[in-house]
Amino acid sequence: MRTLIKHLLAATQPLDTVTVQAWIRTRRDAKGFSFLELNDGSCFGSLQCVVDAGAPGYEGIAAFTTGASATVEGRLVASPAQGQKWELRATRIELVGPADSTYPLQKKGHTLEFLRTIAHLRPRSNLFGAVFRTRSRLAFAVHEFFQSRDFFYIHTPIITASDCEGAGEMFRVTTLKGKPGEKPEADFFGKPTYLTVSGQLEVETFACALSNVYTFGPTFRAENSNTARHAAEFWMIEPEMAFCDLNGDMDLAEEFIKAMARHTLEHCAEDLAFFARFVDKTLNERLKFVVERPFVRVPYAEAIEILKKSGRQFEFPVNYGQNLQSEHERFLTEEHFKSPTTVFNYPREIKPFYMRLNDDQKTVTAMDVLVPGIGEVIGGAQREERPAQLAENMKAHQLNEKDYWWYADLRRYGTVPHAGFGLGFERLLMFLTGVANIRDVIPFARTPGSAEF
Ligand code: 4AD
Ligand code: MG
Repeated sequence: MRTLIKHLLAATQPLDTVTVQAWIRTRRDAKGFSFLELNDGSCFGSLQCVVDAGAPGYEGIAAFTTGASATVEGRLVASPAQGQKWELRATRIELVGPADSTYPLQKKGHTLEFLRTIAHLRPRSNLFGAVFRTRSRLAFAVHEFFQSRDFFYIHTPIITASDCEGAGEMFRVTTLKGKPGEKPEADFFGKPTYLTVSGQLEVETFACALSNVYTFGPTFRAENSNTARHAAEFWMIEPEMAFCDLNGDMDLAEEFIKAMARHTLEHCAEDLAFFARFVDKTLNERLKFVVERPFVRVPYAEAIEILKKSGRQFEFPVNYGQNLQSEHERFLTEEHFKSPTTVFNYPREIKPFYMRLNDDQKTVTAMDVLVPGIGEVIGGAQREERPAQLAENMKAHQLNEKDYWWYADLRRYGTVPHAGFGLGFERLLMFLTGVANIRDVIPFARTPGSAEF
């Protein structure tokens, strides 16, 4: 029976007969024996194997090249070599699948850009193995966080007819062929439909029934932003809480990010050590800071004042009533506060229709969490629960109330204050691993002009 390398490297005593099945990272031949470095992706580390020339299968050793897959049987023994506790003394080797000399992943020296062109093979590299093991572990941590706090996981639809964010960045879903004279009613769903930009509107209906809920699924945005932080397809986590206001929302957002940082420190230590060494030298310090220190909270109006007084020449001018650009967000969190920062109470004009109007009649209960190196990682709000005000908001945003009749119904029947947020899973991963480009924390990136693989 196959044993994963992860378990062998963690062995507490020598083992007599083990079977390893893995890919060959390197082979070195010496007089009368060979070294094989085997990696099966189950953990960061590789297993060193020593194969004697007399071992069955050794006659074919020339085909045991980098990238090939193999089965190795042997004894796990204490290794005399430095830096490794165990090694495998092979008693039999067998090639499973050969890899010829065109195998593009050599031992070192590949740029991230090159590795993106071989996205089907890059999970076999140290960096991407570490990234995707961490991604998997954190997805688990997300569920654990919410489930242990009595939140229910809701699967919101991927195809939708409503534009949650109102930014018009939706991908159309259609079976129409684009022939002249085709009517929208002839389309598959009888009306225009899109890939969802957010599960929020749908998940609100469940918050107004099950109290605490969350979504965790893919979302799609046709924004033509070719940046290191935007993808056309990304995963979003959206909790929503009934009987909750903006403060409760900000508390949950902060607690959630802290829990994810703590989880990474506790459960991804080996991969994290690699990131801290080769990707971002400040990583450990940053994660500890995030876990230990309260985040800064600042109203939007105050953030604008800070930016204006900064004496900085920003590419985009700073004006009350305009969206914070990434450079502004990063100044606040990286240079001014030097801490994760939650900005709240934004002007109503620059935020979507569903946010609650404050008593000042000018701002809404929006909040964005900004983190160093990334900028916005969370966007959320307390929702407008008053029926008349929601109707007014829709008018102000030139939305057709009829299209949102079911959303408005939540306010008609037992309305409650409620709040939630969306966290971009890839941006969180960038923050927790130090990986600087969103293309490198998602298995297969979808960005403008690129949908290979
Ligand atoms: O701020 P956003 O647009 O908020 C919403 O969609 C709300 N409906 C969420 C809610 O309240 N339930 O997006 C939320 C987060 C952003 O803060 C960012 O982390 C991420 O989603 N995000 C993206 N991540 C990668 N690529 C993109 N193009 C992204 N757009 C948003
Ligand atoms: Mg946002």
